[in-house]
Amino acid sequence: MSDRPEMFEGVEEIWMDGEFVDFEDAQIHVLTHALHYGTGVFEGVRCYDTDQGPAIFRWEEHLDRLFNSAEVYDIDIPYTKAELDEATRELIDREGLDSGYIRPIAFYGYGPLGLNPKASPVQVALAVWPWGAYLGDEALEEGVDVAVSSWRKYSSSQIPTNAKTTGTYVNSVLASLEAKGNGYEEAIVLNKEGNVAEGPGENLFMVRDGEIHTTGLAESILDGITRRTVIELAKEMGYTVHDDATISRGELYTADELFFSGTAAEITPIRSVDDNEIGAGTKGPVTDEIQTRFFEVVEEGQPDEWFTPV
Ligand SMILES: Cc1ncc(COP(=O)(O)O)c(C=O)c1O
Repeated sequence: MSDRPEMFEGVEEIWMDGEFVDFEDAQIHVLTHALHYGTGVFEGVRCYDTDQGPAIFRWEEHLDRLFNSAEVYDIDIPYTKAELDEATRELIDREGLDSGYIRPIAFYGYGPLGLNPKASPVQVALAVWPWGAYLGDEALEEGVDVAVSSWRKYSSSQIPTNAKTTGTYVNSVLASLEAKGNGYEEAIVLNKEGNVAEGPGENLFMVRDGEIHTTGLAESILDGITRRTVIELAKEMGYTVHDDATISRGELYTADELFFSGTAAEITPIRSVDDNEIGAGTKGPVTDEIQTRFFEVVEEGQPDEWFTPV
């Protein structure tokens, strides 16, 4: 147990290829296709300890995105969404979790090596573990210092950006390493046209003159489920939301407020970009209002259609 990463301490079982197995037994072969060529698709999902009990947030949409990502790479997931749903809820229950992170993954497994993956079996795993704030509790309150990455986001004409594919995360890893290596907490990645795409694992929102802007799906971003949530909540709250924006680097520097959205990052304010203070250099009022509403929603477990009880 002690040589495990801290985040996995206490995890007892993983669901793998149709069975619950001990954490230590959830192993794959070193000649697994996905290890060599990145041919896997995955999701990151949160389960919240709501007033209605533990519930998975926007689970149907995450499962839909997993299956859509798989479709892009011709990965025939050998389980139905209903089977993965049942296995996940049972796993959460067996692990005794009230809240935490859920990681479903489907990938081409051990088979002949070569670029055509079709002769390799598709393997599927589900893991769950307790997880607090991705960028830290202080980040949620005070905001993060970010830098525009020298790495560009790949274009959706090169690799589909609407699919959440294991191999393509090397782009996010490079951006993240660069930002952290230079003393920043997170990166913002520009697309090939030089406009803002997103964070390495987050979508980006900008507040200007009381209106909310977020980069459009054609800007080479992941269609984030938290992004959709923010758009819906902000509209309900009466804000004008431009969800198809093209945002230039310079506009970041002069924004009234900026924040990230993501399953891991939730709603994280951005207090500076490339050492330029954004607004007052702390969480802005609109960000605060949206973040407060978001945490209210996940605490209440309402509306019903966004939550799947465990
Ligand atoms: C590249 C990227 N963009 C955006 C997001 C946010 O998406 P979601 O809100 O669905 O977690 C993620 C997180 O998965 C991501 O990896």
